[in-house]
Amino acid sequence: MNILLTGGAGYIGSHTAVELLAKGHSVVIADNLSNSHPAVIDRIETITGKRPLFFEADIADKKQTEAIFSACAEHQPIDAVIHFAGYKAVGESVAKPEIYYRNNIDSTLTLLETMQTFGVNKLIFSSSATVYGTEAEAPYTEQSPTGNCSNPYGWTKFMIEKILGGVALAHPEMSVVLLRYFNPVGAHESGLIGEDPDGIPNNLFPYISQVAIGRREKLSVFGNDYPTPDGTGVRDYIHVTDLAKGHVCALDYACLHTGVEVFNLGSGKGSSVLDIVRAYESASGRKIPYVIAPRRAGDLAVSYADPSKAKRLLGWQTEKSLSDMCKDSWKWQSQNPNGYRSSDE
Ligand code: NAD
Ligand code: UD1
Repeated sequence: MNILLTGGAGYIGSHTAVELLAKGHSVVIADNLSNSHPAVIDRIETITGKRPLFFEADIADKKQTEAIFSACAEHQPIDAVIHFAGYKAVGESVAKPEIYYRNNIDSTLTLLETMQTFGVNKLIFSSSATVYGTEAEAPYTEQSPTGNCSNPYGWTKFMIEKILGGVALAHPEMSVVLLRYFNPVGAHESGLIGEDPDGIPNNLFPYISQVAIGRREKLSVFGNDYPTPDGTGVRDYIHVTDLAKGHVCALDYACLHTGVEVFNLGSGKGSSVLDIVRAYESASGRKIPYVIAPRRAGDLAVSYADPSKAKRLLGWQTEKSLSDMCKDSWKWQSQNPNGYRSSDE
């Protein structure tokens, strides 16, 4: 099949491109490079021996998006779309909510309209465990309450889930799969692609990896007085390659079913911040100095998935361990100390 990945030059999209190409699919990437680097396309080709077709384009722009579907229709029409494109920084979404609502929701609506114009009816969407908000309790099942999101980014995911549910209902030929990711971390085992945040990382793994390489002095552990075994926050970390494989399974599922279905993609295991510090130290052989800092606003004590529905219906479960996540994150970080940018860029 020919699969369009919106936002496919980004962290999760690039790993998914690798897994799709490995399964014999063709891949088209459309990305405006607002949070990614064009070098990723070469890296995907180095890993797989196949080059995805790349369009630098804004998916919220109807003309640009239609042009991609049109160009593909002439050679190999698009059969399905995986929609990664969007902004994802929680803090920034609080400071600039209108930009987040505009980009995340507009890009989805434009994509949907264009899919309808070109008769494409399989869509997989990158949602997030953040939709469970503050009312649900771990382990989250897909039936756990959603909403009560603590930031605009989370609300965009919540709203897009509702939009896609309504569209699937109105168009019975459509197949929509909503994937709620837990905490994707790590990198491809080659060390050629990985997470490349701009500026100071907000998330734990990229922050720790920059401490390990010496770009940051120490980690601040946000709170050690949570009701958890060691007092630090507990999360469900999932290796990005396992997550990418989940998309291949979701695509197979979308080919066999219509309607809308939602799946948690997580490991089902919780790890604390201090568990991660220890695992990273042992994978990298580097000391991770840390200090205990106040809690971060909006953080939950505990979040982890019940991933049994994905196992039952998609035949998918995580295979990689916390040690693999740390080893691969470190390999990516140590081979690419400046991410995709060369040191003189
Ligand atoms: P990322 O920022 O690395 O990738 C997103 C890509 O989308 C980037 O390459 C960016 O340039 C592109 N993009 C943004 N707006 C666009 C637009 N209008 N048109 C075209 N391209 C556009 O992020 P990621 O970590 O790979 O996340 C992928 C998706 O998964 C996002 O929707 C994100 O919200 C969601 N998600 C991510 C996480 C996570 O922890 N990384 C967790 C849950 C959900
Ligand atoms: C964050 C987002 C969430 C998003 C998810 C994607 C917030 C509030 N939430 O979740 O919406 O879906 O990323 O992966 O940003 N920590 C530290 N020090 C740090 C960084 C983090 O102690 O420098 C702790 C946090 O308090 C948390 C854990 O590490 O307990 C994981 O944090 P992070 O990687 O930011 O992910 P989440 O907060 O789970």
